[in-house]
Parts: sequence; structure tokens; C-alpha cells
Amino acid sequence: MHVGILTGGGDCPGLNAVIRAVTLALINEGSARVTGIERGFLGLITGEHRPLDGAAVAGILAQGGTILGTHNRCDPFHFFGASGADVSAQAMSRVREWGLDALVVIGGDGTMAIADKFQALGLPVVGVPKTIDNDLCHTDRSFGFDSAVAVVAEALDRLETTARSHGRVMIAETMGRYAGWIALEGGIAGAADVILIPEVPYHVETVAEICRRREASEGYTLICVAEGAHPIAGGLTVRATIADSPDPLRLGGVGAVLASQLQPLLNSEVRATLLGHVQRGGSPTPYDRVLATRFGYHAAQLVRQQRFGRMVVLKGEDCDSVPIAEVAGRTRPVPLDYPLLQAARGLGVSLGE
Ligand code: F6P
Repeated sequence: MHVGILTGGGDCPGLNAVIRAVTLALINEGSARVTGIERGFLGLITGEHRPLDGAAVAGILAQGGTILGTHNRCDPFHFFGASGADVSAQAMSRVREWGLDALVVIGGDGTMAIADKFQALGLPVVGVPKTIDNDLCHTDRSFGFDSAVAVVAEALDRLETTARSHGRVMIAETMGRYAGWIALEGGIAGAADVILIPEVPYHVETVAEICRRREASEGYTLICVAEGAHPIAGGLTVRATIADSPDPLRLGGVGAVLASQLQPLLNSEVRATLLGHVQRGGSPTPYDRVLATRFGYHAAQLVRQQRFGRMVVLKGEDCDSVPIAEVAGRTRPVPLDYPLLQAARGLGVSLGE
């Protein structure tokens, strides 16, 4: 068997661990030939690829990023933009030229939507869920999330000591797109006093009231805000619009906006820190290394069993799979009855309601 593998969308800690696991399992257990396609689906158009074997994946388990490179704007069905040309036939002839029998696609909801279309064109595909945002449907966890949460927790730990020393309100803004998973778990892990997520619109006055109360008691406040969080009477804070991207809105900046809204209402100084891509870079946590390895191994099993058109998922403690079509282009917000939300409220953490 000749199997291609690519990474699509934004990078994420653990991508290399999946590439390694898929490659080693297919070679050791399936005597397959494995080819890495470079820069996501773009490599299927440009022809950039490289052979993968034991030596090629040696030493990459703990490396951040992706040795294959990635692309978050390349959709061969709309090549660079919604009105872009359909160059999928070109990609399919590349698949035939290389003699690929199957493709393992590691990515988020957008990448799975593209993978699903290739499956419909007759290219056997297996998906592996990747995103620090943890917002893919049908999987309890995507790899990369734990690593992002660890960064947020450490940042809050550090912000806490300086907030306490200066008697300040410190705001940490996380990534996460339209879901609050990173801010919620990172905020809980870093003992934030206020956690603001997109699923629960906030009142600026409520947040100000918490800060005022804490000015008089603890003397400082730690706020963790997701980039997609928004006030009840306001919209998203958009950093940029990338016209030729399948997901054109780039969020970011809500922390600074919130700081400017809170400052006139408080005596203490308010400072905002944008954690940004620091959450996506660097080495995966041990949990993510193991999860990515399990996902990669499971993907290789699906390929060997010819169970195509499926994406690996984590259900409880177990790896399983679902049809890619059920995941493609859909996202999973934090459910309003998620127990951790209730636990947060119970501990006196404000959600800005
Ligand atoms: O989906 C992962 C993610 O890191 C989001 O949390 C964030 O909104 C987005 O990607 C940022 O994308 P870019 O790297 O293109 O700015």
C-alpha cells in the first residue's frame, strides 16, 4: 500500500507525533510505503512531497509544529478564496501520478470538509482531529488542546504574582475561535477570578463589580478571556479579515478592548496580555504526545482495515471513529450545562453573567 499523509489548517503541538505514529505503524505492521505531502493540500497541487520512513520521523515526537508544513488558506475546491477555481482534478491527477492508495489527513473542521470532498471524488481518506481549540464535533478531545491549556495556566500563574504585587487587574486573552474550551480549562487551571467565553456573553458592569469587590479584599483580579468572547450588547472583536481564507475572520483584541472599558470604572490599573500563537507553538505536553500517538496508531489501523471516510475520535478513554461527513465544517461549543461551568460558578468564579 502507498499512503499519503498531510497536515492542514493552523499548526498545533502533537502534529509530528501523529505523523510519526502513522508512519511507524503503517511501515511496521502494514509494510506500507508512506509519503509526506508538504504544506497541506497545497502540496497536492505543487507536487511538493517527501518519503517518510523510520529515519525521517526519528526524533520528532516532542517537536512542535509540523515537519511537513501546513497551510490554512489552501482549499483545492476553491483555490485561494470562495470564488477561487476548482483545482481538485489537478490534485487527483497528482494522487494517480504518485500511486497513492489512501490519504491520512490531520486537521480541524475546515480540513475535514476538504477531506470529505476528496473522499467523494474517490480518494480513500482517513482523518485525525487536530486543533488547540478542542472544538471538533464527536471527539471529547483533540490533541494540542492540553498543550494550549498548559500555556494559559502557566501564563496566569505568572500574571497572578505581578497582579498581586501591584494590586492590578490582569487580563489574559486566549485563542479558541468561537469556542471557550481553552479559556475555560486554562482559566480554571490558572485560578482566574473571571472567565469569559463566547458561549456565555458577559456584562462589562458585572466584571467591573467583581474587580471593585476584589480591590477591597484580595486587592487584585485575574481575568481569562477567550478571543471569541463578547459582551451581551456587542459583537466579536475581529483582528483581521483574510479574504482568500475559507475561514476569513481572525479574532483577537477583546482583552485590550475589555481593559479600556474596565479602566474608567476601577481604581486599580488594568493590563491586558494577548497570549496569541504562544499557545500553539512549542513542544506538546506528555498527554498530547500520548493522545497524538494513539490517534496516529488508530488512523493506521483504519487504513489497514480499509475503513475509509472516517475520522478518529476519543470517546471517554477509548479511540473510535466517525464518518468525516459528520464532522466536516462543524464545530462544538462548550455546552451550557457543561459541569465545569457549574463548578466554576460554585467556586465563585464569575462568568460575567
Ligand atoms: O484554530 C486554531 C487557531 O489558533 C484559533 O484559536 C485562532 O483563532 C486561529 O487559529 C488563528 O489563526 P492564524 O494563525 O491564521 O492567525
